[in-house]
Amino acid sequence: RNGRELILKKKIEDVMDVYDYVIIDSPPALGPLTINALSAAHSVIIPIQCEFFALEGLAQLLNTIKLLRKEINPTLEIKGLLPTMYSAQNNLSRQVYADLLQHFNGQLIKEGDSKDAIAIPRNIKLAESPSFGKPVILYDVRSQGNIAYQSLARAILEKRA
Ligand SMILES: Nc1ncnc2c1ncn2[C@@H]1O[C@H](COP(=O)(O)OP(=O)(O)OP(=O)(O)O)[C@@H](O)[C@H]1O
Ligand SMILES: [Mg+2]
Repeated sequence: RNGRELILKKKIEDVMDVYDYVIIDSPPALGPLTINALSAAHSVIIPIQCEFFALEGLAQLLNTIKLLRKEINPTLEIKGLLPTMYSAQNNLSRQVYADLLQHFNGQLIKEGDSKDAIAIPRNIKLAESPSFGKPVILYDVRSQGNIAYQSLARAILEKRA
């Protein structure tokens, strides 16, 4: 190791006082950018598309997180798994969601004392909002997509240490 995986962490430490939260959006692959993000982060949310092969990369990612904890970032917390692009009309989508419930129930994100895990639905308003230059909360506050993301935000605030 030569410290390359700590470049982002050092940059963030320089400006830490200025922000309450820093949200790092990382690429899907486990390359150097993602390793930098996981090295810098206090916690990680793992979005999982409810589609074919969705769970394929998950074991590898969880393994990488385990290694990272051992080598670089011992306090890295998994905030939770987040099913996305969920569509109740789609068999495969329901199957992936059921698999997640069965194998990772404890790691799914829940709000308050709700027993139901938060899942982000496939929702046209979420897809449209960037083309209007707006976050979905300003584009369509009543949309199912926004409702789900607000629930996620509340759940994350509850989990704040
Ligand atoms: N829940 C959703 N319902 C419908 N469409 C969505 C939803 N989430 C994202 N999209 C669509 O998919 C596009 C990509 O979404 P997003 O940027 O979240 O994907 P990503 O997995 O982060 O991709 P990348 O690897 O490019 O960063 C969005 O521009 C939007 O059109
Ligand atoms: Mg992205």
